[in-house]
Amino acid sequence: MTAPITAQHLSVKKSFRPGELWLDTDGKHINAHGGGILFHKGKYYWFGEHKVAGPDGNKAMAGVSCYSSKDLYNWKNEGIALAVAAENSGSEIEKGAVIERPKVIYNEKTKKFVMWFHLELKGQGYNAARTAVAVADKVTGPYTYLKSFRPHAGVWPANATEAHKTVPVIVKDNDPAWEQKVADGALLQRDFEGGQMSRDMTLFVDDDGTAYHIAASEENRTLHISKLTDDYTGFTDEYVRVFPGGRNEAPAIFKKGGKYFMITSGLTGWAPNAARSAVSEHMMEGWKQLGNPVRGTEEEKNTTFSSQSTFVLPVQGKKNAFIFMADRWRPKNPIDGRYIWLPLIFEDGKPVLKWQEEWTLDTLMQKNESDD
Ligand code: GAL
Repeated sequence: MTAPITAQHLSVKKSFRPGELWLDTDGKHINAHGGGILFHKGKYYWFGEHKVAGPDGNKAMAGVSCYSSKDLYNWKNEGIALAVAAENSGSEIEKGAVIERPKVIYNEKTKKFVMWFHLELKGQGYNAARTAVAVADKVTGPYTYLKSFRPHAGVWPANATEAHKTVPVIVKDNDPAWEQKVADGALLQRDFEGGQMSRDMTLFVDDDGTAYHIAASEENRTLHISKLTDDYTGFTDEYVRVFPGGRNEAPAIFKKGGKYFMITSGLTGWAPNAARSAVSEHMMEGWKQLGNPVRGTEEEKNTTFSSQSTFVLPVQGKKNAFIFMADRWRPKNPIDGRYIWLPLIFEDGKPVLKWQEEWTLDTLMQKNESDD
């Protein structure tokens, strides 16, 4: 059921109301799902999946949307940043492909904006499992599509063991030990030649300018963290497996007090599940689980407020002020999917999320002020 649009929806917004219709400055529900945000020259740019109405609405009919905002409450539609190619054009990103979780980063050296996203080729369901990249000279686009691929063909991860490299682990469909064998490297080995699967993904740029691509690989059982090349448009050979067999999806990464934190979801398709969190001193090793970040009712904990993570946004100019961004998917009518933005606070060194009907950035600052 779609809630009626009220005058309150249309006025200038001064707060966040998670889960409600979120109208842009034209009065239309923001269409930027599975998104991420780039801050550039005083403005936030929100990139996300453009969805359409109806059960097929998760397919890319237009491309990747872009919205801009100075205050994070009021968003202007900047149009389609990366457009799909014409139907039957044979392009990898032709209309009807699946384009998910786009993220944009800015490369200081090349002065280019670099967009990565999860790509599924048209008519192939979710079998392609590729990552894809596009670049632009202007933040809002137009982005030029470069390529898609399965990463790291012929390359072992830095934390592969000798056994991974030399002792084959064969897994067949319906194998009762399927999950364990995947954790033990069966799909890592299977995909060694052709490249590793890459589905739900995010990007993270570290203080030293190094950019990382973090994706659900091995049939969404294991996260792979990969270092991008200096120009951010390709993969280096450096990557690691994180939480093998851990079934983590929807990764969102941020840094606080010199440590890296990760929020992920479990693996249940469009249906929500309990979020997880993790911490490490280093991006490429030492990840430790911190448990479910949600504090609240059992239902809230089990479903992450009926949503799935997509990004953690550091609020500019404020120390330790983070916003957790998630999607409340509506697979039967994807365009009506809702956004859950909540303050991400810290308790006992762990990221914590609590439900708020309505909240403002001021409360976020206060909550984190006592935090070091
Ligand atoms: C989810 C994933 C989404 C989308 C969906 C398709 O688990 O996080 O990005 O791929 O599955 O079923």
